[in-house]
Amino acid sequence: ANANSAALGGVTAAVPSAGEAAALTILYGSQTGNAKGVATKLKEQAESRGLAVKLVSMADYKPTALKKEKFLSVVVSTYGEGEPPEDAETLHEFLATKKAPKLDGVKVAVIGLGDSSYEFFCQTAKDFEQRLNKLGAETVYQRADLDVDYDDEAATWITGALDAFEPDLKAQQSATGGQVLSFGAPATAASQYTKQNPFAAELSTVQKITGRDSTKDVRHVEISLEGSDITYTPGDSLGVYFLNDEALIDEVLTLTQIDAASKVKIADEELSVRDALIEKLELTQSYPGFVEKYAIATGTPELLKLVEDKAAMREYIEPRQIFDVIRQNPAKLEAQTLVDCLRKLQARLYSIASSQAEVEDEVHLTIGLVEFEAFGSEHLGGCSGYLARRAEEGCKVKVYSEHNDNFRLPANDDTPVIMVGPGTGIAPFRAFLQERDAREAAGKNWLFFGNPHFTQDFLYQVEIQGYLKSGLLSKVDVAFSRDQAEKVYVQDKLRQNSQAVFEWLEAGAHFYICGDANRMAKDVHQALLDIIKENSGKNDEDAEQYLKDLRSANRYQKDVY
Ligand code: 2AM
Repeated sequence: ANANSAALGGVTAAVPSAGEAAALTILYGSQTGNAKGVATKLKEQAESRGLAVKLVSMADYKPTALKKEKFLSVVVSTYGEGEPPEDAETLHEFLATKKAPKLDGVKVAVIGLGDSSYEFFCQTAKDFEQRLNKLGAETVYQRADLDVDYDDEAATWITGALDAFEPDLKAQQSATGGQVLSFGAPATAASQYTKQNPFAAELSTVQKITGRDSTKDVRHVEISLEGSDITYTPGDSLGVYFLNDEALIDEVLTLTQIDAASKVKIADEELSVRDALIEKLELTQSYPGFVEKYAIATGTPELLKLVEDKAAMREYIEPRQIFDVIRQNPAKLEAQTLVDCLRKLQARLYSIASSQAEVEDEVHLTIGLVEFEAFGSEHLGGCSGYLARRAEEGCKVKVYSEHNDNFRLPANDDTPVIMVGPGTGIAPFRAFLQERDAREAAGKNWLFFGNPHFTQDFLYQVEIQGYLKSGLLSKVDVAFSRDQAEKVYVQDKLRQNSQAVFEWLEAGAHFYICGDANRMAKDVHQALLDIIKENSGKNDEDAEQYLKDLRSANRYQKDVY
């Protein structure tokens, strides 16, 4: 069994046998757990209507079972450049092959999760719907593409989709005389603190861990969870809320000629527009929806033109943060109108860099400050800018933990692990190493780390060298890309160790990648394929299959962004 089914209480064991009632099958593909959360809500709502329902992770779903489905709902997120989450990869691909079965008569409803700041917004959900339709399945309720601020829209969609499924599903259920089936145990006891109800935690430490001459500003952050019931496992992420820059807000208010004390409403809460802009609304991460609403609210012709032209819109938002759009197109607005143009501020998720076995009620993060020059001024990332520049040690930050069953140490402490984590991708591996150290796990550990310069950017150097000395780390390979004329990257280090890497894999090692999704993770994947081919004599297809099998066995896991 894999980690997903374990977390859901062995859902897959409860698949109905022939003759049982027709059920709505909810398939979810989730990288960080958001899609799983929406899928779980859908299941709960269906059950409360007396509908039979199965909730299954795509990772645990046999594609051949599709033939037996009558009612199908797909809940899937998208990440990177339109890619499916890892647990959805196999099914996503299968549906586009000749092996996929005809699905005539199957009723389907698809819901996607994504971030409209990215070009290929909800692409995976679109693919799923298109592929299912092509196989003959009929969409019974219009797909929703949920943006980061999705709770309300998800609830509306769930109601609509269930309204659409219910009559046929109920008819089928009574035809087969089936009792209501319920699948899956309730999720494991979770913290009372969630995305919707975060814990105000003390920010204990924010320490710069790159050198003075580094091209990067990376911070080691420590937060106290004392007084909360928040727990986490290495591999999990921490959601962190932040406050927007007050100087920017005052500028925005001046540009829009809004009185800072004007009252506005957000959901059911009334507060001053200034407070709303500080803590409730997104002002940094730009996305087309804002430009569109602002264009209409202000009637700005140049912005209205972008609404018609997707490519131009992408090009426009790429270098800009939200306040840039306002700064470059100032217009008098009502306070509420401005608020209605903006989306709710989203917590930023960071891979946790500590283990509770070592730090108890603390949680550590490794955060790269997002910092760039544009249009003659310095721009900072929303959350990293807050933590690195504005928040003071000792202040409160609102946090919650987000479990990630797709990134876990092997259950068996004797299993070797290979960890590839350049840059801030080191974070979860610091957690892994702390955990394995505390557990006195016997399995060997091999770390690949990379960054521009040895003297400036060797994050956690002292700890890593200490672990090497103590023997916790069997091997460490570092790629300081700019310390020599030719660039050296982690994948080069992997290739240099081709035979040993393959031997570790053959000995059962788990392989982990954390960090940049767009280039690094792909290049490391390719290096792995080459290593497999080189050492086993397999061809391309068989090497791919080798990695697929590793993935199915949860031995190849990624936490990439
Ligand atoms: P560079 O910036 O010198 O090109 C962490 O960001 C490290 O990852 C840096 O040393 C960076 O090198 C390196 N890096 C950049 N692109 C990469 C890629 N495609 N694969 C692996 N590492 C990469």
